[in-house]
Amino acid sequence: MKEQLEKLRQAAMDAVAQSDDLQALENARVRFLGKKGEITSILKQMGKLSPEERPVMGQMANAVRQAVEESIAAAAEELKKRQQEMKLKAETIDVTLPGEKQPEGHRHPLEIVLNEVKDIFIGMGFQIADGPEVEWDYYNFEALNIPEGHPARDTQDTFYITEKMLLRTQTSPVQIRYMENHKPPIRMIAPGRVFRSDPVDATHSPLFHQIEGLVVDKNITMADLKGNLLTLAKKLYGENTEIRLRPHHFPFTEPSCEIDVSCFRCGGKGCPMCKNEGWIEILGAGMVHPKVLERGGIDPEEYSGFAFGLGVERLAMFRFSVDDMRLYYENDARFLGQF
Ligand code: PHE
Repeated sequence: MKEQLEKLRQAAMDAVAQSDDLQALENARVRFLGKKGEITSILKQMGKLSPEERPVMGQMANAVRQAVEESIAAAAEELKKRQQEMKLKAETIDVTLPGEKQPEGHRHPLEIVLNEVKDIFIGMGFQIADGPEVEWDYYNFEALNIPEGHPARDTQDTFYITEKMLLRTQTSPVQIRYMENHKPPIRMIAPGRVFRSDPVDATHSPLFHQIEGLVVDKNITMADLKGNLLTLAKKLYGENTEIRLRPHHFPFTEPSCEIDVSCFRCGGKGCPMCKNEGWIEILGAGMVHPKVLERGGIDPEEYSGFAFGLGVERLAMFRFSVDDMRLYYENDARFLGQF
């Protein structure tokens, strides 16, 4: 029995040592120390021993059981510790790994150009103004010297809401609204959306953007107009840019002109961008008509001014060599992502 016990102790110790997880350890415990376990069954055989042998063997068997119990407890402790360590290792976050880059948004090309123009004029001391998109016929036409029946109304196909109310066809009504509320000296630009009942094609859209400009003070002349807009052209398209004023007609300016810039692609030699003209039209302008100053509550005998209006889409098309305006409105991320 003594030998048997010694063998069992060894076997139990080996089984414990080989258990590499808690389940295997539990299996070893049941095998040796469980109710039907091998050590337990030896203890049960004590009754068969002689009275002299019994205490000696009993002591020995108990010592074996205790030793095995202790080694199981120690092994369990060790396994739990190892398990915890493995768990921590698996869950550690390596903060030095590079992150996943989130796609960044882009400014819309129209906004880029608008911001450039705004910055240029703010640098020259202009204020930024705005006005309503739903406008009275009075501000959009009447006060701008385009009375009912005037042929100029035909060139701006208008979305009427009622007989007297419409979607503004130009940002020029902001000129009147601004003069009603501000005394000269006036230097303002008014960017905004305008609406015309035009069918959609590569260069037309029923909704587009304009930037209106208005300067009113004593002794403002055509030279001021030219100087300001030459500055704009040089800042937008480079120091070597020239401008040319071509006579034109707008009812609310007199005299009126269209302003061309020397082609920024070919420098004026002629290329597909400028349709071989060497010049590209970028805006309409003129000296504010005395009747318009009067409507704004400003005495045309004392003050004079110039105004201009430019199309943001047009400007952006040249700026980024985009030949179809529709791209600006389709919100195709492949297009917008290029800016
Ligand atoms: N409002 C004019 C247009 O839409 C542009 C313009 C503005 C012309 C101011 C002269 C002065 O075509």
